[in-house]
Amino acid sequence: MGVIHALHAHELARESGCCALAALVDADIERARSFAAQSGGDIPVFASVEQLAAANVCQASVIVTPTGNHREHAATLIAAGHRVLLEKPLTGSLEADREFAAELDHAHPHALMLAFQRRFDAPLQYAKDLVDHGAIGRIFKIYSALEDSNPAPNGYNSGGILPDMSVHNVDEILWLTGRTPRAALVIGSRIYSHRLTTCQEDFDDALLYLWFDGEMVAQVQVTRNHVSGYRVETLIFGEEGQIHVGRFDQKPFEIAVEAYGRRGRPEPIAYRTFGMRDYRRPLPEFIDRFGPAYKAELAAFIECCRSGSPFPTSHRDGLRAQEVITAGMQAIISPEQAVAVQGGSG
Ligand SMILES: NC(=O)c1ccc[n+]([C@@H]2O[C@H](COP(=O)([O-])OP(=O)(O)OC[C@H]3O[C@@H](n4cnc5c(N)ncnc54)[C@H](O)[C@@H]3O)[C@@H](O)[C@H]2O)c1
Repeated sequence: MGVIHALHAHELARESGCCALAALVDADIERARSFAAQSGGDIPVFASVEQLAAANVCQASVIVTPTGNHREHAATLIAAGHRVLLEKPLTGSLEADREFAAELDHAHPHALMLAFQRRFDAPLQYAKDLVDHGAIGRIFKIYSALEDSNPAPNGYNSGGILPDMSVHNVDEILWLTGRTPRAALVIGSRIYSHRLTTCQEDFDDALLYLWFDGEMVAQVQVTRNHVSGYRVETLIFGEEGQIHVGRFDQKPFEIAVEAYGRRGRPEPIAYRTFGMRDYRRPLPEFIDRFGPAYKAELAAFIECCRSGSPFPTSHRDGLRAQEVITAGMQAIISPEQAVAVQGGSG
């Protein structure tokens, strides 16, 4: 993921002059050197975040290290005076999120932007615009799916499928509705892809169900079993119709947003397709889907740094999403709690 952020920073510097890519850091310094060489620039490289902080070569940084390092690296760079764009999740655990958020609130409330790229995704922004303008009336249900086509890689360190994946869906739902749920539960299973990897997660297929006040629910489906390709779909149900973002059809670079009114209405309320970027090299499937969103997110971060404005997302959004997920994970319904089916095979 760091390579993509570096590529976008390099492009934004070239295209608009709004920033300069001042340095690259990787504990595996050859990775940083290799990107610097490909970019053709004379970009300094460092083997640690501490070295970058001490070098005083930039005012802002993008942190894309493993989740277990997020808090330490963000704290180091913020103490050095940087404003930071931190990849999700904030720290990966609710307790550490709470501590870190309290520290930031106290000393650096505007230093950290959390990288929730869906908020910068043109199809989802269009859907939000339709919702905000009342195109489908009062919203009563949202279904948001994120399904990988492959298991987590061998050796990958996951805190579970929900903290690892659903953090994106949960933030999306909270952002689309402007609301926080009052209760949550999880149902999960291991049904296929867990057998293909050494990364043993709690589930390879899970549903997070959320209840909101005022007769609204949300359902988050996360799996690593969608063998036909990366599936990122959102369905928003309202009293006057529904909006569907990203209907799966194996066209990763073309995302449709469809809105339909009540039964009997002859024409759709809205239909638009959005072209995604083909980087013309093998990249993880999430980059096929969200490449332009990652770049727009970085551009927004840079613009806030230049203007000294607060960021559109912060540590508070990371904490809020983690609170929702943790609540659900405290209420996991197992098959033993379900009612046995008479004559069922078990
Ligand atoms: N927003 C998204 O859609 C998205 C997608 C993928 C990953 N991520 C997030 O990005 C982060 C990185 O994930 P990834 O898949 O790129 O991981 P990765 O393991 O592929 O890359 C991590 C990089 O950090 C380097 N590194 C490790 N420890 C370091 C240290 N102490 N100091 C400096 N460099 C160090 C590694 O050498 C490696 O190059 C994770 O937090 C993940 O959740 C977000």
